[in-house]
Amino acid sequence: MINRIERVAVIGAGYMGTGIAQRLAAAGVTVTVTDASPELAEAGRQRALRDVARDVEAGLLPAGTTEAVEANLTAAATLEEAVRDADFVEEVVPEVLEIKRDVLARISAAARPDAIIGSNTSTIPVRLMASAVERPERFLVVHWSNPAHLVPGVELVVGEATEEAVLPAIKELLQRADWVGAVVGDAPGFVLNRLQFALVREALLLVDEGHATAEDVDIVLRTTLGFRMPFIPPIAMLDMAGLDIYEKGYGLLQAELGDRYSAPRVLTEAVADGRHGMKNGRGLFRDYAPETLDEIAAWRAKAYTGMSRLLAELGPMPGSTTESETEETSA
Ligand SMILES: NC(=O)c1ccc[n+]([C@@H]2O[C@H](COP(=O)([O-])OP(=O)(O)OC[C@H]3O[C@@H](n4cnc5c(N)ncnc54)[C@H](O)[C@@H]3O)[C@@H](O)[C@H]2O)c1
Repeated sequence: MINRIERVAVIGAGYMGTGIAQRLAAAGVTVTVTDASPELAEAGRQRALRDVARDVEAGLLPAGTTEAVEANLTAAATLEEAVRDADFVEEVVPEVLEIKRDVLARISAAARPDAIIGSNTSTIPVRLMASAVERPERFLVVHWSNPAHLVPGVELVVGEATEEAVLPAIKELLQRADWVGAVVGDAPGFVLNRLQFALVREALLLVDEGHATAEDVDIVLRTTLGFRMPFIPPIAMLDMAGLDIYEKGYGLLQAELGDRYSAPRVLTEAVADGRHGMKNGRGLFRDYAPETLDEIAAWRAKAYTGMSRLLAELGPMPGSTTESETEETSA
């Protein structure tokens, strides 16, 4: 199995494929994109070049990135030509199992036997695709998030057959382009979409039940949970707020809203074991030395102040015209 990836083929030069290809090419990786026709492949390459040039112009990417992408990114007329020399091939074709399986079979027949093969699926389990791949020990899901050239997180899902050596090679490639890989289970929605769909569902139920307008739900999310989350994600927040407090909160919510709000067993067991979070130095999955608590508070103050400044500098999303957002920005 390959251990350092130098050449990548991206199959499907659509929205996600071109984002993945452009950031890899900007990081110095040799990338070939292809699509259902030579024209579509070239159109994808041209779109990637235009996007990069626009971001350089806006000062978001260093000068010289367009030239780097131009040199490192080529379009191939066929899938077979694109994958021939690749160390890693990522399929980014539509989310239709039959199309994915057909493309994966073609990739594995034409690629080198030691090439790693990935799928960008958001929802299809590895086990439903792996049987289409010759030598499935080199197959995994490498799930970039939208837009791939800007969002740092990538989910990695291995199947039963996937060889261990595949993960370090993929993680190292991601690191070179400043993406961060997280290994997650082959379960519905992986991690990202299971969390995202739960949150969106509750947001829509709140609107539907008349608890808040859509605008106010979004304001609450954006200015509280969303505001904190880049720095202190939910499990760290649990440690900060107090495990015992959350356990009680779940009890109250469950009484009113039903069992989907019951406290998870991992939480009740931890509380029973005396784990109350940062306040007693015993978090859910880690301990906190007393001297780090002041450092965490100082780091948090810096993070939240920086976030407030960035939001003020950016202003609201263009086209936002709600009264509350107008008031907020003029305040
Ligand atoms: N768009 C998103 O927000 C997003 C986010 C994460 C993951 N994904 C996943 O990424 C994948 C692609 O999504 P997208 O939004 O880029 O779709 P898209 O429609 O923009 O791109 C798919 C591309 O694949 C090409 N294609 C179709 N059949 C092909 C074939 N046989 N050989 C080569 N190319 C072929 C199409 O012409 C098209 O250019 C899907 O699996 C999707 O679930 C999408």
